[in-house]
Amino acid sequence: MFEKIPYPDDLKERYELGKAQLQGLLDPAYEEVTNDANAAALFASLIDNINWVGFYYLREDKLVLGPFQGLPACSVLPAHKGVCWKAVDEKKPVYVDDVLSFPGHIACDAASRSELVVPIFRNGTVVKVLDIDSAVPDRFGETERNLIIECANTMSGL
Ligand code: SME
Repeated sequence: MFEKIPYPDDLKERYELGKAQLQGLLDPAYEEVTNDANAAALFASLIDNINWVGFYYLREDKLVLGPFQGLPACSVLPAHKGVCWKAVDEKKPVYVDDVLSFPGHIACDAASRSELVVPIFRNGTVVKVLDIDSAVPDRFGETERNLIIECANTMSGL
């Protein structure tokens, strides 16, 4: 549908380049929505075989939809339910290799089968999550997960 940025096949090279591009794009002087819209577009090219990537912002007891790439998604995620909330509550990345076996998973796109959620922090507090869905069960191996988390971590503190 949309053109993609070409990236190297080697995962380490790929994510090192992606991280450098992300750092070049993002600037705390910009609006949060501006940074996150560009980050969502970059992640959509950088991570192969995904059907959705985007942000949910923590607003009191809700997670509300931020910039994303993919099909329209749930606007609001009710508190303490689903994979995104687990990452907020545990303050650490959550990986679900098969969402069909995750009690409480919120299916925004019925095609999604695996999901990685990375919390993003400001001043030590979770302010939002980066949510990545794939239609492939167990899409994200440990090496790639860690590389994605490292990229996402560069967004903390902005
Ligand atoms: N699956 C998520 C909801 C967001 S959508 O995947 C875009 C969850 O269980 O929190």
